[in-house]
Amino acid sequence: MRNNAIFRIIVLSVMLPVFWSCTPQSEEDRFIDDLLSRMTLEEKIGQLNQLDPSWDAEMKEQLIREGKVGSVFNIVGAKQVNRLQRIAVEQTRLGIPLVAARDVIHGFRTIYPIPLGQAASWNPGLVEQAARLTAEEAAAEGIRWTFSPMVDVARDPRWGRIAEGYGEDTYLASSFAAAATRGYQPTIAACVKHFAGYSASEGGRDYNTTWIPETQLRDVYLPPFKAAIDAGAMSLMCSFNDLNGLPSSANHHLNVDILRHEWQSDALLVSDWGSGSDLVPHGLCADKKEAALRCINARMEMDMQGNIYTDYLAELVREKKVSEKQIDDCVRSILRMKYRLGLFDHPYVSEDTPEPYSEQALATATQLAEQSAILLKNNGILPLQGNNLRLLICGPMADQRKEQLGTWVFDGEPARSVTPYDAFRRATDSRFAYIRMLPGLSYSRDKNTSRFKELEQAAQQADVILFFCGEEAILSGEARCRADLNLPGAQAQMMDRLAATGKPVVMVVMAGRPLTIGRQVEQADAVLYTFHGGTMAGPAIYNLLTGKTVPSGKTPVTFPKMVGQVPLYYNRHNTGRPSYDPPMLIDSIPIGCPQFSIGQSSYWLETPTEPLFPFGYGLSYTTFEYGKTVVTPTDGQKNNYLVSCTVTNTGEWDAYEVVQLYTRQLSGDLVRPIRELKGFERVFIPAGETRTVRFPLAPEQLAYWHERKNDCQSTVYLATDTALFQVWIAPDSRCQALADTLCIR
Ligand code: GLC
Repeated sequence: MRNNAIFRIIVLSVMLPVFWSCTPQSEEDRFIDDLLSRMTLEEKIGQLNQLDPSWDAEMKEQLIREGKVGSVFNIVGAKQVNRLQRIAVEQTRLGIPLVAARDVIHGFRTIYPIPLGQAASWNPGLVEQAARLTAEEAAAEGIRWTFSPMVDVARDPRWGRIAEGYGEDTYLASSFAAAATRGYQPTIAACVKHFAGYSASEGGRDYNTTWIPETQLRDVYLPPFKAAIDAGAMSLMCSFNDLNGLPSSANHHLNVDILRHEWQSDALLVSDWGSGSDLVPHGLCADKKEAALRCINARMEMDMQGNIYTDYLAELVREKKVSEKQIDDCVRSILRMKYRLGLFDHPYVSEDTPEPYSEQALATATQLAEQSAILLKNNGILPLQGNNLRLLICGPMADQRKEQLGTWVFDGEPARSVTPYDAFRRATDSRFAYIRMLPGLSYSRDKNTSRFKELEQAAQQADVILFFCGEEAILSGEARCRADLNLPGAQAQMMDRLAATGKPVVMVVMAGRPLTIGRQVEQADAVLYTFHGGTMAGPAIYNLLTGKTVPSGKTPVTFPKMVGQVPLYYNRHNTGRPSYDPPMLIDSIPIGCPQFSIGQSSYWLETPTEPLFPFGYGLSYTTFEYGKTVVTPTDGQKNNYLVSCTVTNTGEWDAYEVVQLYTRQLSGDLVRPIRELKGFERVFIPAGETRTVRFPLAPEQLAYWHERKNDCQSTVYLATDTALFQVWIAPDSRCQALADTLCIR
């Protein structure tokens, strides 16, 4: 037996190199290897350097001339980009082109809803189209690399960057991660971020520490990155956070074990802004030279605006602490991305820039804003019906061209925004007798209530009040975390005064996160949650409120009743003491009540665990009736099933319904979530008609990461338990519909 094994090793050790040398090298590899062989160490290190020349321009242009820059970002415009490109291509020894990057997060000139809003559409196809149109606008102005999609699964609305991602569910976020990547590429390179675990920051405070067990990291946070990589993402970005004590820029397990070995990815890994040099304030490294060593040893390949590679790598190679091969591996990644973008053949962009804001872009922006809006309440006031309606349009978000664009907007021009007030006053709809506009508050944080009296008087002349409230753009996004999720400023008081007029109030919320608006929801006759809807938010809202379009959005994130419930998400564990019956709340506890006489279960004395609105929730102008979920084995031996259900449009409006598939594993090697989204489909159902919706369900869709511990060794592996599962096809994650079950043997 032993000789056999030895023989096999000898054969392999002889055959493999022969095999390898016979494998035809691709043209791409030949090109990269040839270029690499002609580069000096300084030129290689220069390729790993990304700078923002929008300041200190002259010094940075000189660095480009010296071959010390591989990429620039925050430079926009064909002329500006070409000017820097000419320096790189025509004034350096090897003429390696730059790649110009930009945060093109939810649009370039035409701005689409914030990604959290896009997720509410549950329409990856439309998001892919928006990304494709965005890439065309950006590439026309010289941008060939976007730092998007951001795919951090976010369960904490206090975290300002929840606005930038696709919500709290891994499956939904993975669908959008792949769609956005397909849309951007190959016109511009996608950069899936932030790798990894950034959104689990303690306390919902940005850049804060994250503690994520390996199995949860792999079940919840990594799949959207893998989905983007599988869709061909050309790059990823490190995250700022320390993950279990190790900042991602220095995390060999993330950046090499998982990204290179397990996923076999050849995508470029770029730091976040100075996240390499941040290892010093993190307390991981004593100085920036050590930071450079830790980062290159963890295969962080490009240094964004940190200058640690250009300052220290050559010295570390001379000290033999870093090998030139380590640097070559990183340089290959950046050369490969430039090659795949065609920059070596076509480094310049036409300076005959086409007009942005094309008809198709604006139409797509309108459609996506419509589908990103969630109807949370409607007592029948919507859509606005009748003739000669007198409208009072009010609130700090009714006419805010910049604020409605949302966070992470650099190149979208507010002047091109169409606000809700614009849309209503431009409408030729005869249904409205007159439209009066009174903001009441000048901006979302405004506490000046002096105009409320005038508002109350104006309300007496109106048939319907449209109250546009929410958050200014600056209140969400990076480093914009909130410890209070109520409407800012005096907006709640404004709603109190409007409700007291007795006139019907339609509340439209434009925000970067779910807000704790329970009181306002009770007071309003209807609530439309549009997040920050982008350039065409106004026309989209007009179309929805007037019934030209029927709302179809569903919550991509749980809406908590109060900030004390956070983090609150649908796919949580049940605990050993779930709070089933209505628990005793604080004001009901009898005075002097004995310690253990009011029962113990998992809830808060101020509120049960129920959210204000659950994940996957959204109303329509019509109603849908779900039949019983039916599970049918399609291949019993292999545990393959088909899950089906009838959905009937029982109302009067033709409409789309986002039908969702959930499972729950009832027992197993580990405790599992009480619900898990495993599929969804936007289905068009004409009034009065029925459709049968079907989803395949295979064992691999029910797999999760296990951990086997032997003494101090830990091994993780993906597997599906032999177990009984509940299965629902439902309108949201509460799954009132009757479940069926299936057994994986
Ligand atoms: C920021 C963000 C990152 C962005 C980068 C470049 O700090 O964390 O998402 O792409 O810097 O602007």
